[in-house]
Amino acid sequence: MRFFHRGELVEIADPASTRTVLDWLREDARCTGTKEGCNEGDCGACTVVLAEKRGEQLHYSAVNSCIRLAHSIHGLALWTAQDIAAADGTPHPVQQALLNQHASQCGFCTPGFAMSLFGLYQNQVCQGKQVTREDAQEALSGNLCRCTGYRPILDAATQMQSLPQVTLNEADILSKIEHIALMEQGVEADFSYNAPTTLAELLAQRATQPQAQIVAGCTDVGLWVNKLHKDFAQVLDLTRVAELRQIRRDSKQLVIGAAVTLTDAFAALAKDRPALRRFTQRFAGAPVRNSGTLGGNVANGSPIGDSMPLLIALQAKVVLASVRGSRELALESLYTGYRQNLMASDELLTQIIVPKPEPDEFLRVYKISKRQEDDISAVCLAVQLQLRDGMVAQASIGVGGVAATPVRAQQTEASLTGQTWNAATVDTAAATLRDEFQPISDMRASSDYRRQVLGNLLQRLWLQSQGESNVSLDDLTLEAL
Ligand SMILES: Cc1cc2nc3c(=O)[nH]c(=O)nc-3n(C[C@H](O)[C@H](O)[C@H](O)COP(=O)(O)OP(=O)(O)OC[C@H]3O[C@@H](n4cnc5c(N)ncnc54)[C@H](O)[C@@H]3O)c2cc1C
Ligand code: FES
Ligand code: FES
Repeated sequence: MRFFHRGELVEIADPASTRTVLDWLREDARCTGTKEGCNEGDCGACTVVLAEKRGEQLHYSAVNSCIRLAHSIHGLALWTAQDIAAADGTPHPVQQALLNQHASQCGFCTPGFAMSLFGLYQNQVCQGKQVTREDAQEALSGNLCRCTGYRPILDAATQMQSLPQVTLNEADILSKIEHIALMEQGVEADFSYNAPTTLAELLAQRATQPQAQIVAGCTDVGLWVNKLHKDFAQVLDLTRVAELRQIRRDSKQLVIGAAVTLTDAFAALAKDRPALRRFTQRFAGAPVRNSGTLGGNVANGSPIGDSMPLLIALQAKVVLASVRGSRELALESLYTGYRQNLMASDELLTQIIVPKPEPDEFLRVYKISKRQEDDISAVCLAVQLQLRDGMVAQASIGVGGVAATPVRAQQTEASLTGQTWNAATVDTAAATLRDEFQPISDMRASSDYRRQVLGNLLQRLWLQSQGESNVSLDDLTLEAL
């Protein structure tokens, strides 16, 4: 496998299929400036920046190197905190701003912060776009600092754009990345890690190697490697398949390829439904969203996964494909039990199809978690209503955290549909919603809390539909357990 690092093409011969980028950096390349904190995508100490060719340009993403497989950066460019200063040691504006603002104390988290800021610098400052404090908060949402405090770091983020600009020689990087693709032609793939580039090839390999571990962004699988010490004799990486990385839209629907990153998929969803933006920012932190895919979230099928309640409420469909053909089904009917689904051993999830909003759509999504960012839901509720002439013409409701799979609240939908949209209807529906599921008690919330909060959220939605609430529950964290 080959990638661009420090001005050169680096070639690694046959890394183990589960070797991570962080292990390669620290143990093989001895680039120990990149730190290991949690080793599970939660702290951001290991953040590096990757660049890929998009059209004729480079697109930069800050990602967690601890849960990113080394093979997955083939054909990309890589930067760590040790690679951004000038050759004579002059700090990069990101580093200079962190110094100027005294934004580091013990320094353990600082390489990760510097790299999240470097990604922001490349994508915004170098493109002539102003970095706001909000942009900085979003870019740093996956980086934890335990001693300095975030104010000086955020000050550095907004100061970096006022320092003399430093640009990369992108033409050289692009030509080297393109050269990797040319070198690949006619070369046999490594059997233990296959990353086909067309859907036909992918499905053919899936059919002949049903035992291979499917990997997309690796933000779930990476934890199985690091924390459960899983090893895979064969990996099938689907992120290089062009068809799976496309987003298409027409007047009726948005079609999102399964390997589209969460960052890009959420941007596409929020383009049609701007109210979703805050909710999508509450999914993990930016580096996880930059690697993780929408297809991975749906296929993994965690009962506390966040995109599924939303997609169920939006009446999304999924496409499953194999060499035998493809089939389309409602997202909620994909799941058969705890992390079990209808996919046959030769099938893969290839697309998520989301209908465009109707003019009278009223949509709200609530994530209840202990922290604003980088936290898993205790409960997630997504409600889509069509309100016509004061009546609920149609209701669709997706819920997470209340059953073994993400679910549709069919009884509650029935209690709303065809009713006058008023407080009495909502009281009845809230009572139905509280009784519709029997959630478990766990470290995130008790069963009673989950049931209670579901009904409360529906009440909140009613108030919001009346314009009576100043409090945005989109921002609610779980404070009182
Ligand atoms: C720090 C951290 C925070 C997180 N926060 C959240 C959160 O707030 N909300 C949330 O919902 N999740 C969260 N996650 C979980 C994770 O990021 C998501 O589930 C993500 O969408 C998984 O996508 P991926 O591409 O990384 O999947 P991978 O890890 O590559 O794969 C996950 C599973 O899906 C299978 N798979 C992937 N793609 C396909 C496909 N196209 N067809 C068939 N099978 C497939 C894989 O074989 C594997 O079993 C978090 C994870 C971390 C590490
Ligand atoms: S070491 Fe904590 S996110 Fe990677
Ligand atoms: S400077 Fe010590 S953890 Fe951030």
